[in-house]
Amino acid sequence: MSPYLLTRTLPADAMSSALRRDVLRGLGTDPKQLPPKWFYDARGSDLFEEITRLPEYYPTRAEREILIERAPAIAAATGARTLVELGSGSSEKTRHLIGALADLRTYVPVDVSESALTQAGQALLADHPDLAVHALVADFQNGLVLPDAPGPRLVAFLGGTIGNLLPAERLTFLGAVRALLSPGDALLLGTDLVKDESALVAAYDDTAGVTAAFNKNVLSVLNRELGADFDPDDFDHVAVWDSEHEWIEMRLRARTAVTAKIPALDLAVGFDAGEELRTEVSAKFRQDGVRDELAAAGLDLRHWWTDGAGRFALSLAFPSD
Ligand code: SAH
Ligand code: TRP
Repeated sequence: MSPYLLTRTLPADAMSSALRRDVLRGLGTDPKQLPPKWFYDARGSDLFEEITRLPEYYPTRAEREILIERAPAIAAATGARTLVELGSGSSEKTRHLIGALADLRTYVPVDVSESALTQAGQALLADHPDLAVHALVADFQNGLVLPDAPGPRLVAFLGGTIGNLLPAERLTFLGAVRALLSPGDALLLGTDLVKDESALVAAYDDTAGVTAAFNKNVLSVLNRELGADFDPDDFDHVAVWDSEHEWIEMRLRARTAVTAKIPALDLAVGFDAGEELRTEVSAKFRQDGVRDELAAAGLDLRHWWTDGAGRFALSLAFPSD
């Protein structure tokens, strides 16, 4: 039986001070916005898993299809002994990769959600007793340091989560990932692709209302962590396609004028009726854009694989020098 290790790279109060800063900055300005990592407390992680099983939410199924088909090619191209996964969540799709990487010894899932890491780690070890799992509770946008583990290393960033970063954040993030790679290491990147608007909007506004509950969960996080008094029923879930930026924007729209108290920040936040809080963007990509963004960070796109219906892509990139 090999070890399961969980490392919290952040001091116990780091998350709550980051939350305070993000809320002060994001709700004190016009238009109001919050960074998406605050969706993912234990309930948020469970709701996201529910989203991945919705009929409208195609990205998970499309990416899984590519992983199943291409895992042998990824294994051959990388020979990875260590797999690092950023924003690993349930690690459910990753199993196809883990199964195909014959030389894999160590798996390093990285996530802000400790509950997701622990559940995923237990489930994986039951099936792969010889795999060393070193889970990291960390913010992948903030000074990520990886544990020592033998190369070649493959860093996977799946689920289209890169689309939840704004363009400038993506450049910074990809540059930081590039800096973690040595010659022979690689990045496996999942990106959702530009497509018909109605399919995109449906994926972020399902008829069962799971995405709406997920979006509103961020208000429950503020209530619990900061003693705020948001009533999630005062807000509507909104998902719109922004054709200029080619991203889906998720918002919470106040149904009436709302004032919420946030005692931990000594703050009262007012919403006019109809005023919106932006909670997330989910950018959609084209091959040229992905290649250019990787190149700008010093990464060379070597493989581009899509699912049969051309909805989603996996890219495999290597340091370019
Ligand atoms: N990779 C999984 C989960 C995608 S959802 C899949 O493809 O299904 C996005 C995941 O990233 C969540 O598990 C969330 O907790 C995590 N996450 C979001 N922002 C993060 C950040 N800044 N640092 C680390 N993890 C983050
Ligand atoms: N990475 C996922 C995506 O962009 C996250 C996500 C799916 C999401 N559905 C959501 C985030 C709804 C906020 C609201 O597809």
